[in-house]
Amino acid sequence: MSGATPEGARTEQEAARWVRGMFGRIAPRYDLANHLLSGNLDRLWRRHTVKRLAHILDRPGARVLDICCGTGDLAIALQKRSRSRILASDFCHPMLVAAHRKIPGGVLFESDALRLPVRDASLDLITVAFGFRNLANYEAGLREMRRVLRPGGVAAILEFSQPRNGLFATVYGYYSRRILPLIGGVITGAGDAYRYLPESIQKFPDAPGLAHQMRVAGFGKVTFEYLTGGAVALHTGQIM
Ligand SMILES: C[S@@+](CC[C@H](N)C(=O)[O-])C[C@H]1O[C@@H](n2cnc3c(N)ncnc32)[C@H](O)[C@@H]1O
Repeated sequence: MSGATPEGARTEQEAARWVRGMFGRIAPRYDLANHLLSGNLDRLWRRHTVKRLAHILDRPGARVLDICCGTGDLAIALQKRSRSRILASDFCHPMLVAAHRKIPGGVLFESDALRLPVRDASLDLITVAFGFRNLANYEAGLREMRRVLRPGGVAAILEFSQPRNGLFATVYGYYSRRILPLIGGVITGAGDAYRYLPESIQKFPDAPGLAHQMRVAGFGKVTFEYLTGGAVALHTGQIM
């Protein structure tokens, strides 16, 4: 299976079901856990992403979709910069309910990122923040992102990665395996979700590996940059 592999899931359908159920359980306290566990760095990572994509967001009439939008934080950050209405989707209903509370007038829809109800070649930008790693099939996810983008359109993937520096990697590894599941469990009541998090990051391709998969999927001008010492990476690729 070339995607998320939560413990016990034997098929892509089972993996997707587990992921959807897990996010459903943590949805009400997701934002609090997120900001606390990242020391608010998640806000900076999303803001940085928006800055990098400003040249597309500034285009009049740009059509933008944020998939795996969760409670909507990236969509909100994109909307602040964009003149057109940002679309946002997720396959977890409780996450969309939380997003709707934050962006009552937003265009939100429930959809699996692997089967988007979006026309071929109709978007200028598709974004995904900390959701791509959870897809049951990465190749299918990239194929779907490519399908909905127009020529010249850009895909941006903000995702956890592996820290590069030895000492930071050790400290970060200890924090994410020992401390994060404890605090995440107390805040959300779902310790398993925060044990899955470091496991899923460990199994996820490193940044050059993801860039390679994007090129294989047909994206051009693929670039990535590390943020916070490589704990996070932002990849972009364009439809040529
Ligand atoms: C870690 S949260 C990230 C939410 C948000 N993008 C953020 O930056 O905070 C991952 C989200 O991806 C969604 N997700 C995972 N797999 C998905 C899929 N196949 N289709 C749609 N949404 C999916 C989950 O429901 C969850 O809301």
